[in-house]
Amino acid sequence: MKPAVTIRDVGPRDGLQNQPRLLESAARVRLVRALLEAGLQDVEAGAFVSPRAVPAMVGTDEVLAKLADVDDAVLTVLVPNLRGYELAREAGARSVCMVLYGSERMAEANVRMSREQAAAATEALLERARTDGVRVTATVAVAFECPWEGKTDPGYVAALAERFVDLGVDEFCLADTIGAADPRQVASVLRPLVESHGADRLGCHFHDTRAMGLANVYAALEAGVRRFDAAIGGLGGCPFAPGASGNVATEDVVMMLQQMGMDTGIDLEALLRASELATELTGTAPGGRARPWLLAQRAEL
Ligand code: COA
Ligand code: ZN
Repeated sequence: MKPAVTIRDVGPRDGLQNQPRLLESAARVRLVRALLEAGLQDVEAGAFVSPRAVPAMVGTDEVLAKLADVDDAVLTVLVPNLRGYELAREAGARSVCMVLYGSERMAEANVRMSREQAAAATEALLERARTDGVRVTATVAVAFECPWEGKTDPGYVAALAERFVDLGVDEFCLADTIGAADPRQVASVLRPLVESHGADRLGCHFHDTRAMGLANVYAALEAGVRRFDAAIGGLGGCPFAPGASGNVATEDVVMMLQQMGMDTGIDLEALLRASELATELTGTAPGGRARPWLLAQRAEL
């Protein structure tokens, strides 16, 4: 049965791209497998980006090759442009995430395109993906606020939603890349989108920079959203957006949803093991808040 809320763990991509320690493909695969064992239905396993721009994502082709046996979950890879899409296809990817931009400056910083150029590239990609039978998520970076341009115009984001939902994107995801959104803003941006397009294809991606990650998940949930990105251990951050820090932690989101009686299909105990593995591999303290409490519960058993 399809869980009530679908979570995509972006730890192996968003989480690792900013780490000082570069992981071998074998270690990245261990992390992905730990997440799949916990019941994640979708894991962002890597990115096909310029090796100069993001050295940590070099070897994503190897990661996919080592995960070729996975057939009961979606493995998504991020692609910044059509070149990335071609490389992803050569590596056997069946699900890609392409990035749209809420602001000009972020598009320029991330991919040296205008936001309309990035949108046009996404349109071209969608056409190719349809022929190839590839699943496409279009994620709007800085959908709520840009580190250079301030608050993002919700009208522009709504126009992107209209355009890409009409074009048949499988998922349209709003990312708070720098973790600057607040729950009221999230509700006001998401409510009209859910009204116009339904919730099936809408997703949200929050960072916990200002400790509002979980509150923002809740606001989006109340607005009707049922798909969320999160990163194991609260890893994450964009190297091209000043001030960006970790994603909202998967274990925090899952614990909240479970306590609220909403099914995620994820086993918290196994997720805790994945969180511990994430720390072991990266050497970084996790940003998740649920873990100490969950560990204390385990000790009491
Ligand atoms: N993957 C790997 N290599 C790529 C690529 C991709 N998706 N797209 C372009 N390249 C290569 C080109 O082939 C070229 O290689 P060469 O120098 O050996 O000829 C080189 O990168 C430069 O290409 P160019 O088109 O001039 O790009 P650029 O230097 O302006 O960089 C991007 C543009 C998009 C490749 C780069 O900015 C990037 O990878 N950004 C991703 C950022 C990211 O991942 N952000 C976090 C997630 S939102
Ligand atoms: Zn992110």
